[in-house]
Amino acid sequence: MQIEVLEPRSVAVVGAGYVGLTTGACMAEIGHSVICADTIREKVERLQVGDIPIHEPGLSDIVTKNLASGHLSFVVGAAAAVADADVVFLCVPTPQGDDGRADLQYVYAAAKEISQLMKPGTVVVNKSTVPVGTADAVAAIIDRDDIEIVSNPEFLREGTAVSDFLNPERVVVGAQETQAAARVAGLYGTLGAPIHLTDTRSAEMSKYAANAFLATKLSFVNEVATLCESVGADVSDVMKVMGSDSRIGAQFLSPGPGWGGSCFPKDTRALLALANDNECDFEMLRSTIDSNESQFDRVVGRITGLLGGSLVGKKIAVLGLAFKAGTDDTRDSPAIAVIRRLIADGATVVGYDPVAQDVVLEGLSKAVEPYSAADGADILVILTEWAEFGKLDFGKISELMNQALIFDARNLLAGEDLKELGFEYASLGVTENVAVS
Ligand code: UGA
Repeated sequence: MQIEVLEPRSVAVVGAGYVGLTTGACMAEIGHSVICADTIREKVERLQVGDIPIHEPGLSDIVTKNLASGHLSFVVGAAAAVADADVVFLCVPTPQGDDGRADLQYVYAAAKEISQLMKPGTVVVNKSTVPVGTADAVAAIIDRDDIEIVSNPEFLREGTAVSDFLNPERVVVGAQETQAAARVAGLYGTLGAPIHLTDTRSAEMSKYAANAFLATKLSFVNEVATLCESVGADVSDVMKVMGSDSRIGAQFLSPGPGWGGSCFPKDTRALLALANDNECDFEMLRSTIDSNESQFDRVVGRITGLLGGSLVGKKIAVLGLAFKAGTDDTRDSPAIAVIRRLIADGATVVGYDPVAQDVVLEGLSKAVEPYSAADGADILVILTEWAEFGKLDFGKISELMNQALIFDARNLLAGEDLKELGFEYASLGVTENVAVS
């Protein structure tokens, strides 16, 4: 289908979290007139003066610019945003419920709140990650013949959300009705990305399937890395070879302390719950999730082994608390999962992160800079791949530490250089001097 690039539209965004704020700011950046609503007054007041509550490169600049040009405004409550909108994006949270299913209470509440406030012809777009069938459920709640519901899942990554939005690899628009699909697709017309038009259920499924597939790729990589350690292979060479096959692809092949964040853990569990609800045994997805839990244990096992078999009374310096570099987000961070286990096993842990500094965890003390974290430590552990960790003065760190020992769970540092400085250095997916049986 040929997508017509429409005149700038009037857009409302309900929910100013990661997805809503990025969507609203970027929609304004590409020329649309955007009102972004949130229920938290304090957050809205900060946003109205360009004070961004999250660390997301580039976001602050475009919010400030579009506030000044009048393309973007922030209001308290969805009711204040939707009356004149051509398109309303629902970007409210879909947290994990107690049973693993996505908790849709905020989606349903927002749909109910706006149902009678929109003008005829408005298109409501589910942008939050929602289980298959949610567009139909929202349509039933809104219950108006003159309003269409479209699924337009987002594929933004934290840390690169703005450039992901402005340079998408694809835009997915799921709709039952062509006019509504064209209207939503047209919003993205100037970006020149391929548009995938599907029904709503396929769009909803695409998002879960994409995240679950990426998580599976990572669990596979981490398992291969573990096997490399046992058989004397080097995972970085193995992944270079695998990644050069275009059917596999070079991205998402870095071993790590496990995958985390606000999306993969929640979305894989929600997809598994969806499969169970539909009597499908998605065994492979269950293994993907279990493997990730085991990865946290494996990392702790490596650290314990390096410290002689016990963590009791050991001081561990951890560099990195965020779930990945480029973000201040520690939700479901592998670093936190590993730290919890280290503390439970009797270690004293001092953590440092250049951006994620708000984390509060019983037993974890935080350092304001990396050198004080390393002071007196028995081991230094890298858990988030911040590039700046590679530029630290390791000569100084070696003098500060109780013993010069590093475990690099992101394979970030130059191991050979560190060995020259006198460090014992260990990383994932490589074991030296292994006798292969
Ligand atoms: C993920 C998806 O990549 C986005 O496409 C999607 O839109 C988003 O979830 C979402 O559903 O909102 P994000 O959670 O920001 O994005 O993080 P990723 O960059 O995918 O990383 C997820 C985890 O995998 C992190 O813990 C990261 O450190 C880990 N990872 C990633 C690795 O361990 N190795 C890699 O090679 C890549």
